[in-house]
Amino acid sequence: MAKLFEPLTIKDVTFKNRIVMAPMCMYESDKEDGRVTDWHRIHYPARAVGGSGLIILEATAVQPQGRISDRDLGIWDDGHIEGLAELVRLVKISGAKTGIQLAHAGRKATVDGEIQAPSALPFNENYKTPAEMTIQEIAETVEAFKLGAVRSDKAGFDCIELHAAHGYLINEFLSPLTNKRTDEYGGSAENRYRILREIIDAVNDVWKKPLFVRISAHDYTDGGMIPELYIEMAKWMKQQGVDLIDVSSGALVPAQIPVYPGYQVKYAETIKHGADIPTGAVGLITSPLQAEEILQNDRADMVFLARELLRDSYWPYRASKELGAEIEGPVPYKRGWV
Ligand SMILES: Cc1cc2nc3c(=O)[nH]c(=O)nc-3n(C[C@H](O)[C@H](O)[C@H](O)COP(=O)(O)O)c2cc1C
Repeated sequence: MAKLFEPLTIKDVTFKNRIVMAPMCMYESDKEDGRVTDWHRIHYPARAVGGSGLIILEATAVQPQGRISDRDLGIWDDGHIEGLAELVRLVKISGAKTGIQLAHAGRKATVDGEIQAPSALPFNENYKTPAEMTIQEIAETVEAFKLGAVRSDKAGFDCIELHAAHGYLINEFLSPLTNKRTDEYGGSAENRYRILREIIDAVNDVWKKPLFVRISAHDYTDGGMIPELYIEMAKWMKQQGVDLIDVSSGALVPAQIPVYPGYQVKYAETIKHGADIPTGAVGLITSPLQAEEILQNDRADMVFLARELLRDSYWPYRASKELGAEIEGPVPYKRGWV
């Protein structure tokens, strides 16, 4: 049996295979109110029909000023629960588990009004200069992630992924390139990790299901973070009960990134073995054999696909054929799914 199609149980949740649809912003909340629209109702359940084991919803903002754009999905209000619950129900029809990526864009927010970050440094000349967050604002943001977790639970999600990658708020705290604070939230690795520690603890108070964290393991810039430096933080995440680290990279500061098939897999491998914690591999993984190699060689525990699933929602079905695995298809499709 191909490892890609081996079930994986984390806490009380069994994922039917190791194929994860990575979070992808759709920017389709067209009334700019963070609500689910018909596009989401079509897009996510379609990937579930295609056979992915876990569908993780796009970066979903825990605070309105933490949106990447004003068309992002949101979870800052109880009014968001109903639409998200409907998506969960539609995705589950096909036996996929549902995840949501809880996010705050920090200095990469492009919404009106003041934006916030650990330090008052803009990403580049096209972005606003953020205000340095006060201790009170940090506490409010931690609470917003907690309330996001409460609402995720009410909506019925199986899994939460905290977005600590791609140069958004949490990532900005973790890296010394974007965190120049001189208080207890800046300086040493322990201090830079503090907000994530507090968010994980706050979420754990209200959330008992699988908890993933997505990180950018490499800043591709001198003086920035590298996978070896993330091992220490990954050990802290493990101690705090994080179940899996989804290992991405880049986008913290403008930088040249050497991109090639599977270019981030080695970071997932370094962190998996360095911190003895399950990881997800992501980034230019497109072929079933490539995905199978990652799992068989124990380089990661789940394989996250993004763009390939936009091109082909039936990639898992195709992979099962190529790897000789027998999987259950949708009953109404039985005559085609042979
Ligand atoms: C349209 C699009 C939207 C994305 N939005 C998010 C997002 O909301 N959160 C996130 O962590 N990554 C996001 N990403 C990055 C993907 O999750 C993934 O890490 C990246 O595309 C590399 O994987 P791939 O080569 O399989 O596409 C996005 C990527 C694309 C193409």
